[in-house]
Amino acid sequence: MDHFQYHDGVMLAEDVAISDIADDVGTPFYAYSTATLERHFKVFSGAFDGMDTLICFSVKANSNIAVVRTLARMGAGADVVSGGELKRALAAGVPADKIVFSGVGKTAQELSDALKAGIMQINVESEPELETLGAIAQALGVEAAVAFRVNPDVDAQTHAKISTGKAENKFGIEWMRIHEIYKKATAMAGIRPVGLAVHIGSQLTRSDPFRNAYIRMRDLVTMLRADGLSVERLDLGGGLGISYGESDEPLADPVEYGEIVRDVFADFDGQLVFEPGRVIAGNAGVLVTRVIYVKEGATRNFAIVDAAMNDLTRPSLYDAFHEIVPVNQADEGGDTALYDVVGPICETGDTFCTQRRLPRIAAGDLLVIRTAGAYGAAMASSYNTRALVPEIMVREKDYSVIRRRLEVDDLIDLETFPAWLSNNPE
Ligand code: LLP
Repeated sequence: MDHFQYHDGVMLAEDVAISDIADDVGTPFYAYSTATLERHFKVFSGAFDGMDTLICFSVKANSNIAVVRTLARMGAGADVVSGGELKRALAAGVPADKIVFSGVGKTAQELSDALKAGIMQINVESEPELETLGAIAQALGVEAAVAFRVNPDVDAQTHAKISTGKAENKFGIEWMRIHEIYKKATAMAGIRPVGLAVHIGSQLTRSDPFRNAYIRMRDLVTMLRADGLSVERLDLGGGLGISYGESDEPLADPVEYGEIVRDVFADFDGQLVFEPGRVIAGNAGVLVTRVIYVKEGATRNFAIVDAAMNDLTRPSLYDAFHEIVPVNQADEGGDTALYDVVGPICETGDTFCTQRRLPRIAAGDLLVIRTAGAYGAAMASSYNTRALVPEIMVREKDYSVIRRRLEVDDLIDLETFPAWLSNNPE
């Protein structure tokens, strides 16, 4: 359920007409719904009612500080994967003691910044990282609270590019080695092991991979505790899939996910941390674009729109399906045609969908690309010197530009000529 719905034939974001925002800020733009973000956060956290949990929103999914603050106001912490995301989470007002830092390649600078900020936990993914962290913590005279990210060697049954829990993936520490490393860390100066972390992939729509990974985690906890080692916290990662509107896709459900967690960890006394991204932000955002031309041919109709793969890269990168609907609702039983909706970028991969049956499209129409609130704006680039599009946040009847449109001049201003090119040839 989201708050982008038709009302009297026009699509609203909560109580605001999408076309009004388009008239105001131009296209393309991302629009986020506060009520949807809040609803998803409530549904997800509600699945663990009565349990000792902390929900750390995965900032990589949508890193706009207004989005992060909206969730922080509801009690969310943050899962960050770079010094940049750490800065954003703090700028958004997330308390440091609700921030976890994940990632396979944290630099010494990033680790040092995290320790200085006093974050809740650093999820260590390798022995060399542990050594580096120990040395930095000692130099700073602090103790780093560490969770070890386990590679459970479980197949997440999702797209290969977003699968992270198999032995051949770069993430985490092989589960067979966790006991030995945890024990060693307990004796290390500057390090305080607090628990384990796991994240096996994203857009998971089946429950078995979660269950299998979590059972492995539970077994590891039993083993560690039997050896007298303290495990205060388990970070169970993110990964819960959502519906993108494709008719035959399997469905993931936060309530069912909550039941798996309750089932596997019924006897675990300690805190459970979650790092959801997509399930919170995915349906809470849309990308709004205007049709520039419709090119009708013998074999294909192309609707050429002003958004492109640099704005929303998921279809070209993962062949991802995103539902596309007109802002002005089509008449029931009205004329339809098969369209390839494509952007202006000079690559065939710049395609939002192929051969999709849509209501008749004309130049100038506004289209909404749905379920773009996660891994949309956060993954945008300026390829083809297309500057980043604005992000708008809606709350009931109000809306606000939460990131202005970058101008091409902003991009060119970042570049300089070397001395030998500084004069224009006469
Ligand atoms: N925790 C860790 C350690 C992660 O690596 C991720 C996502 C998450 C949490 C959040 O996962 P989520 O709940 O959003 O599934 N760009 C891709 C998705 C990449 C996910 C990367 N890691 C996409 O657009 O599908």
